[in-house]
Amino acid sequence: MLSIVVLISGGGSNLRALLEASQDAEFPARVVAVGADRDADGLAHAEEFGIPSFTVPFSSFDDREQWGDELLAQIRQWEPDLVVLSGFMRLVPPRVVEAFSPNLINTHPAYLPEFPGAHGVRDALAAGATQTGASLIVVDDGVDAGPIISQERVPILPGDTEAALHERIKPVERRLLIDAVLDIANGHIDLEELARA
Ligand code: GRF
Repeated sequence: MLSIVVLISGGGSNLRALLEASQDAEFPARVVAVGADRDADGLAHAEEFGIPSFTVPFSSFDDREQWGDELLAQIRQWEPDLVVLSGFMRLVPPRVVEAFSPNLINTHPAYLPEFPGAHGVRDALAAGATQTGASLIVVDDGVDAGPIISQERVPILPGDTEAALHERIKPVERRLLIDAVLDIANGHIDLEELARA
């Protein structure tokens, strides 16, 4: 059974999809803990599903280093096979990347390498693109630049707002995440090999 720690900052809809998938006895992965960098709304999903959670608020630490040390310590105590960033809106500290990559993955609401960064949906609209997408990547020390695990195109429709487009991208992100977790758990995706390629 693949054990997963999920890190969130927001509503946690991708987290919820993973928690729902894990309800199926046949699903070969389980979320063992949920972590957040703030009092994220998505922590309610963890509570509802009886999954332990931890919060490491950035604002409670004197500097990024100390925050990173505590985040790493919190994740480590769960000894996860995989760490999933799902709407975690901070750059992951280098020590966390070192400790877990390539078993550290991130969902992104754009077709990488197009539109990396915190505003992938907004940037695609601002660029006047006719299509964008969703991507799942291995987190390395770059910004949304790690090896691509899977991705899918999403069309941009006339009159799309950032919110409307993001709501159409999210179900695709969820599907990519669930499918990849399944494939990682059953050995069809080898993250070590992907990271070496
Ligand atoms: C997702 O689109 C994720 O890729 C992005 O933020 C969103 C988080 O959504 N970085 P949620 O918190 O899972 O609802």
